[in-house]
Amino acid sequence: MGVNLINLMFSVRTVVLTVAMAISANALAAEKAAIDYSKYPISVQDEATRSECGDCHMVFPPNRLTMNGWKKIMSNLGNHFGEDATIDAAKAKKIETYLVANAFDAKDSVPAKMRLAQWKKKGIVDPIRITETPGWQRHHKTKKYKLMSADVGYERGSNCIKCHKDAERGMYEEFPGMYGGGGD
Ligand code: HEC
Ligand code: HEC
Repeated sequence: MGVNLINLMFSVRTVVLTVAMAISANALAAEKAAIDYSKYPISVQDEATRSECGDCHMVFPPNRLTMNGWKKIMSNLGNHFGEDATIDAAKAKKIETYLVANAFDAKDSVPAKMRLAQWKKKGIVDPIRITETPGWQRHHKTKKYKLMSADVGYERGSNCIKCHKDAERGMYEEFPGMYGGGGD
């Protein structure tokens, strides 16, 4: 009798806990789904950069590369990863000024210095690809990445927005509408 009562109490407790957990998980999912990132500001506010650097791929945020990385890119638009992305010289200068001023090492901060040192240890100095940076590589060597790559039919990592729908708003943690909706 005593044992049965304990069993009963235990299973009631389990049911209550399970139900409570299910409710909070649902509430969390609903809350996440309710966030509408389209109202969030676009990271790149510079008009020239937005109009000239967003035709072939999303406009990349300047803080993902170094000042010298952007200078290298802007000084070689005639052969931009095999494409001719040449633009009017005055406009190019304006874009370069914006990109360089907002590069992650522009402020010479301690975190920036630490990141530069980490990259250097791996032989990476002023890369011109975000996809070559150690942080990017670390995030994208998972099985989930391979699966998503196959799912969206995009082999390369370069055009972030193919998978991260709100990448232009700096959102990379969630995959709305993919892999079960809000969270990952
Ligand atoms: C004519 C099309 C075109 C235009 C315009 C263009 N790009 Fe690109 N960009 C490309 C291509 C193609 C790649 C290589 C994509 C790949 O490897 O899959 C690329 C790659 C990049 C990458 C590296 C992405 C990675 O792999 O991490 C950066 C950074 C970049 N572009 C910046 C710019 C900037 C800044 C501008 C504006 C000045 C610009 N692009 C304009 C076609 C373009
Ligand atoms: C083919 C799809 C795909 C493309 C393209 C892609 N990503 Fe991702 N990204 C993923 C997936 C999937 C994950 C989660 C990996 C995991 O957790 O296993 C991820 C994770 C990330 C994270 C970590 C998010 C977190 O939770 O902290 C960042 C940051 C990120 N990506 C940035 C980028 C940037 C910047 C680009 C473009 C230069 C890019 N990604 C291109 C699929 C993609």
